[in-house]
Amino acid sequence: MKIAIMGYGTIGSGVMEVLKTNGGVIASRVGEPIEVKKVLDLRDFEGDPVQPLVVHDYMDIVNDDEIVMVVETMGGVEPAYTFVKAMLEKGKAVTTSNKALVADKGAELLRIAAECGTNFMFEASVGGGIPIIRTILACLTGDVIEEITGIVNGTTNYMMTKMMREGSDFDAVLKEAQANGYAEKDPTADIEGLDACRKIAILTSIVAGAQVDYEDIPTEGISKITQTDILYANKMHRMIKLLADSKAVGDTYSCRVAPFLVAQEHPLYAVNDVFNAVFVKGNMLGESMYYGSGAGSLPTASAVVGDLVRMAKHLDRVIPIEWREEKVVLADEKEQRYAHFIRSTADKKAIETAFAQVDFIDAGVEGEIGFVTPVMSEREFDKCAASLGEGAVVGHIRIA
Ligand code: HSE
Repeated sequence: MKIAIMGYGTIGSGVMEVLKTNGGVIASRVGEPIEVKKVLDLRDFEGDPVQPLVVHDYMDIVNDDEIVMVVETMGGVEPAYTFVKAMLEKGKAVTTSNKALVADKGAELLRIAAECGTNFMFEASVGGGIPIIRTILACLTGDVIEEITGIVNGTTNYMMTKMMREGSDFDAVLKEAQANGYAEKDPTADIEGLDACRKIAILTSIVAGAQVDYEDIPTEGISKITQTDILYANKMHRMIKLLADSKAVGDTYSCRVAPFLVAQEHPLYAVNDVFNAVFVKGNMLGESMYYGSGAGSLPTASAVVGDLVRMAKHLDRVIPIEWREEKVVLADEKEQRYAHFIRSTADKKAIETAFAQVDFIDAGVEGEIGFVTPVMSEREFDKCAASLGEGAVVGHIRIA
């Protein structure tokens, strides 16, 4: 069975390695070997064993009738969208690890795939090697999913773990994450929470069966977290984690991506380094958690190849995935309720006047006071924080 890989970077080359290393078991599962016939990339890979397979024009793959499945590991919406659409329209099955593409065009590409009698799969787009998409789509189908809270960005989890445990510097740990192949080409997407935002938009869309636009999800990254915040976190025996949160509210969902202070008792507290975990609560299932390597070449390639095997066994059958293009209107973010940790230059009296009842945290930091507010809505919180006066809040992290 002949396939093509579009984009021979960290994940694309990982797919080649998985197919090589596990070729025997994969062939016995599929019923025949899977062979990479063409690799699309801008580069030539002079002297590399992949060189003879390299093509520079995606039409060389579109027009090759021998190629029945295509892997997209290029990243970004364009030109990936144009290429994937052309492959599906030719009846080729496609799997992608590209969350930007899936978050933006997933519903449309699924419709096109179904219309063309083929499959579009995207297991590797969320949680790296963790099979969370298939779990939601095929296993948790007897439940109403009430909550998904994930650590879904390996780069930032790796960075926060190193910064908290080893007191490492932000820029140095970012460089390590990049060297390990965890980070996006432009790591702003990781650090500012945009990657996690797209992933929770994908998960919420497949739970809702309709389109959740990532632009509608309030998103903050970890770039404002300082060693002073970490000092307070240690004092509270909590870890700072970038969480992507989605809760069912009435007939819609309430989502947020932000750094949170996570308590020791929380199942996500112990998820460290590049590991990801997705905590899912169902109305019958109760609490469950799915854990594994969230980024990196081979774990992500493992999910891509899992899709290839599934698609190879269903070449003549569309596997239905419900994700309509119709847009979900998310719940008002200002109604979300959390306790908040604040660092402020205001005095204790002003803080108590603004928030009524707070717990002060003494981390021995000069010139500021740390405190935790009661659980309140974002709207109430904004009002209370504003009453402290402009510039009086110098640090703010929500409590999970
Ligand atoms: N940059 C992403 C991460 C890669 O760090 O999680 C996996 O999607």
